[in-house]
Parts: sequence; structure tokens; C-alpha cells
Amino acid sequence: MRPLPIDQGTVLIIGAARGIGRELARLLARRVRTLVLVDREAQALEPLREELLLHYPTLGVLVESHDVCDPRQVDALLASLGAQFVRVDVLVNNASEGDQGLYAQEGWARVEAMLRANVWAPALLTHRLLKPMLERGRGGILNIGSGAAQLILPGSATFAATQRFLDGFTEALRLEVEGQGVTVTRVAPGPLWEAGTEGTESLAPFFHLSLERCAREALAGFERGEALVYPGLGHRWVMRLLPMLPRGLKRSLGRMALRSLRREALLLPGQAPKTLPLSGEPSPA
Ligand SMILES: NC(=O)c1ccc[n+]([C@@H]2O[C@H](COP(=O)([O-])OP(=O)(O)OC[C@H]3O[C@@H](n4cnc5c(N)ncnc54)[C@H](OP(=O)(O)O)[C@@H]3O)[C@@H](O)[C@H]2O)c1
Repeated sequence: MRPLPIDQGTVLIIGAARGIGRELARLLARRVRTLVLVDREAQALEPLREELLLHYPTLGVLVESHDVCDPRQVDALLASLGAQFVRVDVLVNNASEGDQGLYAQEGWARVEAMLRANVWAPALLTHRLLKPMLERGRGGILNIGSGAAQLILPGSATFAATQRFLDGFTEALRLEVEGQGVTVTRVAPGPLWEAGTEGTESLAPFFHLSLERCAREALAGFERGEALVYPGLGHRWVMRLLPMLPRGLKRSLGRMALRSLRREALLLPGQAPKTLPLSGEPSPA
């Protein structure tokens, strides 16, 4: 397996202003020649750009503000890179949309935003950038997904389904490009509970995971050429055990999660109940 073109290469990170994307940018800054930071607002990227240049004055940092859910803005991003003679060696599809709510009660705009951010945008960016990588015989695509792909997740039906797209997409692409110098990896984190996060005091320490650690493990797995990376010891354990559970049991776990979601929704202070009761449960007053 050829090493990923990270050292002295150009890495494009979608959704770099905060969270895992920002941590990946911080980790990569010491190694790459150029980082292309994409987010919706240029202003949101400015503190990161300044921080990176302070530590790595010779690093090339390009700030590109585009909404990758908009086809014209994806074209504008790629045109801007072309005009600056920037060749992308590694693409990080990191931006996503998610939410919690019953599908029937969700506005279509929310559903469409999730489909665009989690399916359409990574598919389009990959379509535009993979071919040149294959022609050069080197490149990488890092898809930051979610452990939700493994779950039956009522309350996040669209989000979980989009994560299954990323799973199937990544696995199939890997086989298509095998032996051609391009690595395709999916990272599937769970909820990132850093030590000290309110409400997680009872969690065993191996369930705690910082953004920085998550990004570090993601990058290490990508560089090892792994198909799938589950960051964090506790999460990794749970995710590896899940496929062994019968689907009926997974459905029962899904029902339990739905019950607690409904309880939370019913308990929201000063708000009308957002959800319908489960069959057999009393109707909210
Ligand atoms: N954090 C977790 O606990 C967790 C757990 C499992 C999986 N993940 C996955 O990890 C990835 C990163 O999550 P995160 O929590 O680190 O993200 P985050 O903190 O929400 O940051 C995502 C960044 O992407 C930007 N973005 C979103 N949609 C965009 C678009 N259409 N065009 C350009 N930029 C866009 C956001 O900008 P705006 O501020 O404008 O929205 C934001 O700056 C996601 O794919 C997520 O599903 C995260």
C-alpha cells in the first residue's frame, strides 16, 4: 500500500471551522504543504487560519467559504481551487447535518438539508475529485460518518439512513480503487463525551473521547488504510459487538431509545409535547 499523500500534500477539509474538522486541520498542519479549509462562513474559519499560521508560518492556508449543499457553490469552490492551481491530494468529507425528531413531524427542509449534506455533497465532491486522484495514482478520501449507521435509530431516521449511505459508498469505492494508490476510509464516531461533560459522570472512563483524540485516531486509521475506524475504546467495543446482536434485539433497543426520546420531549419545560404517544401509553394531556 502506497503512503497517503499527506506529507507536503494538499488536504481539503469540508466543515473545518469547528469540531472534528478543526482538530484534523490542527493535526495535519504540521505535515501538509497546503490546507484548504471550507466552511459556510469565512469569518468562522479566520481564527483557525490565524492559529495555524502562527504555529506554521510556511503552511499554505486557503480559506474557502462555501455551502457544499449548494451545487453552484461546489462549482465555485472547485473553480477557485483550479484558478489557484491547487490540486487536492486528500479530501475530507466531514460536514453533516443531523437532528432529533419524529420523521412525520419534521419539516421537509430539514430532511432535505440532511440528505444534501450527508449524501449529496460527499457524493458530488468525491465524484469531482476521485478521478484526478486515480489519474495521478495517489490520493485519499476520508469520510467522517457516524456509528449511527449501525443502529436502528427512531428519532433520527434520516440521519441514520444517510450514514448507511456513507458506509455502502465507502466500502464499494474502496474495492473499485483497490491497487490504484487511492485510500478510502470511513470514520464512525459515537457521541463525543469528553471527560467532565455534564451528565456523563457515571460513564466508564473508556467511553470518554475528546475531539482531538477522535481526530487523531481517525487520521491514524486512514493512514493505515483501514476501511472503517471507530474512534475510542468503549465505542469501538460496542460497535464491534453490535453486529452480533439479532435484528429483533436491535429493534427492541430502538424502541427503548424512542420511549426515552418521547419522555424527554414530554418533559421539556414550557413546551407542548412534540410527539405522539407510543401505542399502549397514556396520551399526553
Ligand atoms: N461530534 C460528535 O459527537 C460526532 C459523533 C458522531 C459523528 N460525528 C460526525 O463527525 C462529523 C463532524 O462532526 P462535528 O460534531 O465535529 O461537527 P460540527 O462541530 O457540527 O462542525 C461541522 C462544521 O461543518 C460546517 N458545515 C456544516 N454543513 C456545511 C455545509 N453544507 N457547507 C460547509 N460547511 C458546513 C459547520 O458549519 P455551520 O456552523 O455553519 O453549520 C461546522 O463548522 C460529522 O459528519 C458528524 O456526523 C460527530
